[in-house]
Amino acid sequence: MKLSVLTLSALLPSAFALWPLPTSYTNGTTPLRLSPFFDIKLNVHNAPADLVAAVARAKGFLKTDKLQALVVDRGASSAQAISKAKTLPSLTISLNTNGAVKSISEEAIAPIDSRVESYTLTVPADGSGAVLKANSTLGLYRGLTTFGQLWYEWDGSTYSLSAPIQISDSPAYPYRGFMMDTARNYYPVEDILRTLDAMSWVKLNTLHWHIVDSQSFPLVIPGYTVLSEKGAYNAASVYTSADVKKVVAYAAARGIDVLPEIDTPGHTAVISKAFPEYIACNEATPWASFANEPPAGQLRLADEKTSQFTAAMLKAVATMFPSTLFSTGGDEINQNCYTQDTETQASLAASNKTFLQALDTFTRVNHAALRTEGKTAVVWEEMVLDNPVTLANDTLVLVWVSSANVAAVAATGHRLVHAASDYFYLDCGHGAWVGDFPTGNSWCDPFKSWQHAYTFDPVANLTTTEADLVLGGQSLLWAEQSSRESLDATIWPRAASTAELFWSGPGGDVQKALPRLHEAVYRFRTRGVAANALQPEWCALRPGACDLTA
Ligand SMILES: *[C@@H]1O[C@H](CO)[C@@H](O)[C@H](O)[C@H]1NC(C)=O
Ligand SMILES: *[C@@H]1O[C@H](CO)[C@@H](O)[C@H](O)[C@H]1NC(C)=O
Ligand SMILES: *[C@@H]1O[C@H](CO)[C@@H](O)[C@H](O)[C@H]1NC(C)=O
Ligand SMILES: *[C@@H]1O[C@H](CO)[C@@H](O)[C@H](O)[C@H]1NC(C)=O
Ligand SMILES: *[C@@H]1O[C@H](CO)[C@@H](O)[C@H](O)[C@H]1NC(C)=O
Repeated sequence: MKLSVLTLSALLPSAFALWPLPTSYTNGTTPLRLSPFFDIKLNVHNAPADLVAAVARAKGFLKTDKLQALVVDRGASSAQAISKAKTLPSLTISLNTNGAVKSISEEAIAPIDSRVESYTLTVPADGSGAVLKANSTLGLYRGLTTFGQLWYEWDGSTYSLSAPIQISDSPAYPYRGFMMDTARNYYPVEDILRTLDAMSWVKLNTLHWHIVDSQSFPLVIPGYTVLSEKGAYNAASVYTSADVKKVVAYAAARGIDVLPEIDTPGHTAVISKAFPEYIACNEATPWASFANEPPAGQLRLADEKTSQFTAAMLKAVATMFPSTLFSTGGDEINQNCYTQDTETQASLAASNKTFLQALDTFTRVNHAALRTEGKTAVVWEEMVLDNPVTLANDTLVLVWVSSANVAAVAATGHRLVHAASDYFYLDCGHGAWVGDFPTGNSWCDPFKSWQHAYTFDPVANLTTTEADLVLGGQSLLWAEQSSRESLDATIWPRAASTAELFWSGPGGDVQKALPRLHEAVYRFRTRGVAANALQPEWCALRPGACDLTA
């Protein structure tokens, strides 16, 4: 008896391939296929160009995905049902709006608490047209993404076995991100663009771009080009203003805001190549006494000239990025570096300030400069926990050291984003990258599986009021041990797991999620993103059959 139920469920296509799962939906079991003349009708007056382009991409995917259902016969046993199915003639897209129509790009970079991403999608089973509605073009874009995941391919037909479908969807959290580090190893622009495409398919909406770090300075900043001229790994491994424009525009058109980070005052050794006078303990050894990773070097935060330079440079970067958010970092400040630095000690003595008072001034000057560019500051957790400084009440805090610190950050009253290394770091578990350390492991061992991130509770240990401070979360990929060669498989599908956590909300069941995540992987591959395998294909085609107790 038990066996026959199991066999049956193994043969049925998994119900819905949607990822992330909509917050509310119903579906049936009626087969439906796209009409050979299927069209997407944009019923939006003065439709913005990025919405028109998004519709064109969605139509393209309907033709090129050709994803066969993940069942043993890949759809053969449904062939007759598919050939007899009613056909869907169209998807009509309409926007409810009183005011002017804004583009997806405008809506994607609006202040985070003002964005509207909800939509409704109806796919009837009776051969009448499907309808997508939203109050924002950003919502329409999310709905188009969902529509594109409904279909399989068999013998030239694009079909679903789940009509009628009714979806009413909106995200649980407004910040759903991915952090990319382009300093430890450089990624060409095309890799960033491909990553943005993949992010958009799972409704991620923030690329947190950790652009520069101690090892290299690939960002070409107008007025400060000497930083990248001397600090990039080579003349080609840079992001020019044109590159940044391209990335930012590509992201925005896909509903993604680009949050830039220029980490300060730590992680800045490379600035010494252009401006040695601003850097303390530059390349001091043994590096471990002066920094968490080589090379050591931090901005001379107590020095007024350094502080002016930093604020002006940050301001110049701020003009390159339209996002309202800007991260000044603030992680892993090494005290010994400053204790050993004669210049810093002299500055502190002259101003009669402690290290923390100097950091407070430094941060205020930088954040004030960014404020004049309309930016809201983003900082790593140390700026409210280890080295608490004066921060505007709208500052967004990224929790990275440990999920155990979330409650302490929330207790400071600041809005926060989950980025804890014990759940969301994609770079853990690959062994040590520091040399001469044969038994070494990554500092954040073990590997963070998709299941581990999926079961995270964003409001654990928080009061109801503190829970309101949680804006969302993100996966992060520090690039010491990754490069374009490994990028796709390192990010995907794990970042998709986090995408669903923060779109659909916590409490998901990994057993139920696995077949859908398999489908996300296979669909990513049809679209040119080399997502890693979750299981042997034998298991992917037999949902549940490889479960621990199956
Ligand atoms: C779709 O509908 C069928 C039949 O009602 C059901 O077995 C299946 O679980 C549904 N899928 C989802 C994802 O709700
Ligand atoms: C659009 O706005 C109306 C009025 O506020 C609301 O009732 C409806 O739920 C919204 N639609 C979506 C898809 O969010
Ligand atoms: C330096 O600061 C300390 C503590 O704020 C204060 O007590 C002291 O009087 C100050 N010294 C000078 C020379 O300003
Ligand atoms: C910050 O404080 C101002 C003035 O009290 C208030 O209007 C605003 O809502 C606060 N912002 C946040 C994000 O707490
Ligand atoms: C909640 O608190 C417990 C007990 O201190 C801790 O073990 C756990 O990591 C915390 N969880 C999160 C998600 O903060």
